[in-house]
Amino acid sequence: MQSFKTTDTLVKWLENKRLSGDKIGFVPTMGALHEGHASLVERAKNECDCVIVSIFVNPTQFNSHDDLDKYPKSLESDMRVLFAKNCDAVFVPEVTTMYPKYPHQTNLICIDLTDVNEVMEGKFRAGHFEGVVNVVYQFFEIIKPHKAYFGEKDFQQLAVIRRMVDVLQLPLEIVTCETVREASGLAMSSRNTRLSTPKKVEALLIYQTLILARKLSQTHLPNEVKKLCLDNLRSGALVTEYLEICDPKNLQPLSKTWVPGARCFIAAFCDDVRLIDNMELIP
Ligand code: PAJ
Repeated sequence: MQSFKTTDTLVKWLENKRLSGDKIGFVPTMGALHEGHASLVERAKNECDCVIVSIFVNPTQFNSHDDLDKYPKSLESDMRVLFAKNCDAVFVPEVTTMYPKYPHQTNLICIDLTDVNEVMEGKFRAGHFEGVVNVVYQFFEIIKPHKAYFGEKDFQQLAVIRRMVDVLQLPLEIVTCETVREASGLAMSSRNTRLSTPKKVEALLIYQTLILARKLSQTHLPNEVKKLCLDNLRSGALVTEYLEICDPKNLQPLSKTWVPGARCFIAAFCDDVRLIDNMELIP
């Protein structure tokens, strides 16, 4: 497995791959890799000739210094995970490689994210998606992948990336991968490493509420499901940030009518650890 820190060596290596006709798959990550990330790499390996993973804790997408400082880092074990999945290359840039004038001039690209950025993560984490767009756009420009892999765990992020690809007419395919869960149902997340075993049990209420939403969606209207599920989520030890039932296309909240693929989205704090999850309803 090749490891790159700078763009020029990576670009040269990729150029050779492209010249020999390889289809390039790209999996962007912030490290602290778990089985969710590994599933993206596995899918990319199945569909592409050459798979590159980036590990970069992107400072511009964090809206809290504390969250950024506490973001888990485990480069050695990340390398082992990627090696075990036969990943071809890993790109681990420095902050100044991605943002030469950091902390200044970090907004390198600006695109209209109207509606997808006005709800949920966009509303509660000001500037988050602008940061995601900036870093992912730069990765796409450097790597020029044929396919890029993203998880449904961050469903709204996927909508934002799709919007960017659409607006900028980028020549690549975005591939959606299902959320990988622990046996308990808790969605795998790098932030789970900050939860003790009893806290993980508390956090399970998020998954249980999504399951409840799915069940209630067969007999109730979206606004009724939202109210009942909010009551359920608030009955435990978590602090709810939002629970929304939305149209999967534009992420606008649903009230009186269902649409195909409607999803329930939750963000909640387990102590100071912010967790998000989502699930399709009326299957
Ligand atoms: P990160 O949180 O490390 O996630 C990297 C990719 O793994 C994302 O596409 C995410 O949706 C996916 N993922 C995370 N947990 C998953 C799970 N349990 N099952 C399936 N896929 C999962 O998302 C980011 O990093 C960043 O915002 C990034 C896109 C790298 C830009 O900085």
